[in-house]
Amino acid sequence: MNEEIFERYIQAGKAASTILRKGSDLIRPDASLAETADQVEQMIIDAGLGVAFPVNISLNESAAHDTPSPGDERTFNAGDMVKLDLGAHLDGYIADTAMTIDLGDQKQLVEASHAARDAAIALVRPGISIGELGTAVAYEIGSRGFRPIANLTGHGLDQFQLHMGPNVPNIGGVGGAVLEEGMAIAIEPFATTGTGYVSDLKRVEIYSQRLWRPVRMPASRKILSEIEPLQGLPFARRHLKTAKPDFALTRLVREGVLHAYPVLADIPGSYVSQSEHTMIVTSDGCIVTTA
Ligand code: CO
Repeated sequence: MNEEIFERYIQAGKAASTILRKGSDLIRPDASLAETADQVEQMIIDAGLGVAFPVNISLNESAAHDTPSPGDERTFNAGDMVKLDLGAHLDGYIADTAMTIDLGDQKQLVEASHAARDAAIALVRPGISIGELGTAVAYEIGSRGFRPIANLTGHGLDQFQLHMGPNVPNIGGVGGAVLEEGMAIAIEPFATTGTGYVSDLKRVEIYSQRLWRPVRMPASRKILSEIEPLQGLPFARRHLKTAKPDFALTRLVREGVLHAYPVLADIPGSYVSQSEHTMIVTSDGCIVTTA
């Protein structure tokens, strides 16, 4: 990784870290999810950065991929376990960071994903396998009496690429891909009181373009021209100016032009916590950009 790219990662990370902290202060009982999301995304823009993905605000058993719908009237409630996950980029170099805001009394659950993240970060260096990181994550969460979410992972990052190899598992294992100097990765353990597996809910608010080809329907064309500047990074339904986009969105997903990200949730009544940092692997460890 050259110096210029490194500096962009660092700059995006610094801003993302500040914004995550400020954003977390907005989350309290009776505050609006929609206003929180708008304010966090505006802070990213005001910092001179791009919104790498719609701010995720996922509640309780939902682990990820929830974001307010157009006209969303939800507010936070006492007792909620809120995951705030944001992405900011500079020229496509992404800082991806998340924390859990507990509006109830589940300190241990919040601590579990936090400690798991930090234990994995402490191991990051060239030559370590993703299996070893997953083992550390699973140990920190399991020893506190919770389950790691097995079918969610951390991920590699590259310019305008939010999720690429290597995937960093939240469960133990042996071997797998090996980290190399210069890789940008996000480590994001999830701890749950539920089953340890998330499934897709019907609710879909986030999409990204994955195929670039001409489409016929006028509404589809409008949507694709709106999202063109994103270069494949995800967007939310509430971001669209195209009127009544739902039919076109469904069709674009069916045609394989868009990818849909349904809300991912453990079983009803369970609680999930998450903690995430982005880092760059150096010759003898890593530099956490979102610290
Ligand atoms: Co991430």
